[in-house]
This record gives sequence, C-alpha cells and structure tokens, in this order.
Amino acid sequence: MRRPFIAGNWKMHMTTSEASGLASELVAACREIDGVDIAVAPPFTALAAVGKAFAGSSIGLGAQNMHWEDKGAFTGEIAAAMLTDVGCRYVILGHSERRQFFGETDEGVNRKVLAAFKHKLIPIVCVGESEEERDRGVTFVIVDRQVTGALKNVAASQMANVVVAYEPIWAIGTGRTATPAQAQEVHQTIRAKLAGLFGNEAAAGVRILYGGSVMPENAAEFVSLEGVDGALVGGASLKVDAFTGIVTETARVKATAR
Ligand code: 13P
Repeated sequence: MRRPFIAGNWKMHMTTSEASGLASELVAACREIDGVDIAVAPPFTALAAVGKAFAGSSIGLGAQNMHWEDKGAFTGEIAAAMLTDVGCRYVILGHSERRQFFGETDEGVNRKVLAAFKHKLIPIVCVGESEEERDRGVTFVIVDRQVTGALKNVAASQMANVVVAYEPIWAIGTGRTATPAQAQEVHQTIRAKLAGLFGNEAAAGVRILYGGSVMPENAAEFVSLEGVDGALVGGASLKVDAFTGIVTETARVKATAR
C-alpha cells in the first residue's frame, strides 16, 4: 500500500522570516491530518529556519536541487551532505524549470539521483512534456526517456525510496491542469515503464505524484485516480490554507478509497 504524499515546492519564494512564519502555520494546520505524508521544499537559504519550525512535527523537509559531487570547487552549488546536515529528507531533482532554464539533462539528473541514495535522501524525480511535445504526440516518448535516463543504474531494491512526479510543463503555474484522463494515462505509462525496468513489485511500491496547477478545488480529481499517489504543489503551497486544503482533500479521498 503506497502512502499518499503531498509535497510543496516553494521555488524561489520566501525570505527566512517569511518561511519560518509559513512553516509554523503549516505545522499547526496539518497537526490533525492523518494518513498523508507531507513535505515542503523551501529555497536553500530557508532550509535551516523551516527545519527548525518542522522539528517534532511530521512534515518532512526537502530541497529543490543539489549537485551530484560530495564536495569540491563547484561555486554556487550545494552538496547532498549539506542537505542532510540541515535535516532534509527529500530532494526534488530534474524539475522542468531546471531542465528548461539551467540546462539540466537526464544524465545530470541520474547522477544526482545516485548521489541522493548515497546520502539517504529520497529523490523526487520530475518528468513531463512541453506543450509542443504533447501537440506532436511524443508525450510518452519524452516521459519514457526521462524516467529511463534518471533511473539508470538504480537497483530495484532502491525503488521504494524513489518518488516520481509527473508535471506536464504546460500545466505548471498556468492554472490549466491536465485532464484526469491525461494524467492517468501518463501515470500508467510511467508505472508500466518502471515495471519493465525494475519488476512489478518494485514498480507497485513507487509513489507517482501529479503536479501542475493543483489547488484545493481540483486536488480530489487527481488524487482519486488509481495510480496517482499525491501531488507536487507549486503556487498553492505558498498559502497555508490552500496547501492544507490539498492535504485535507487527499486524506479524505484516500481514506474513502481504502
Ligand atoms: P504550480 O502548482 O504552481 O503549477 O507548480 C507546479 C510545480 O512546478 C511544482 O513543482
């Protein structure tokens, strides 16, 4: 049984004081919610402050990126051990904004995934097609390539600690979500691919999240789908009520499904 998972990606938002405030509000708001794993990925500069606010709560701390090397002359980069040192449990890897604006490749994402395992971080591996790719009918080709590339040399036994996030690029920050049918067919394709690479049992244990304009109002549409195990939330994760609403909806829908 896969535990539902809602992760917030704060992207490049929040000073440390804003971050601490929001994190404390989230701890209070999510205290009573059961049956859903929750994580938040603030910017690097706010990790320590948010980690402090989350201490003793069940909300996990995540980072939005990292470098694959353990240490060295890599100006501006952050290593996995630095993330675990401030209390991170998760790291988002291969987000489409990193691929689009910072030249991340499948190979680079793969190196980072392997580094994450080495340091006992749970990678949240992002995949998803652009609008142009969807229009050309190559969505499955793209997602297949991204999944295969990111998970090269990963052992089947490690797959229980991988989270995959399907985020169609055209749905990110646009208010335009995939239809439930579109999301579900890509989720099914990803799980089938994982089964081909790692076997049915390993694939059945991987949590696959949907991301792209998820709000409290539409969260249930996605998380009620078979094979959609939660959401990776951008804009709505910056507001305590919206993020808590998504977590609450997920808890409600998944409890009913059990
Ligand atoms: P939005 O929820 O703002 O569309 O962002 C999704 C996302 O990119 C999360 O990683």
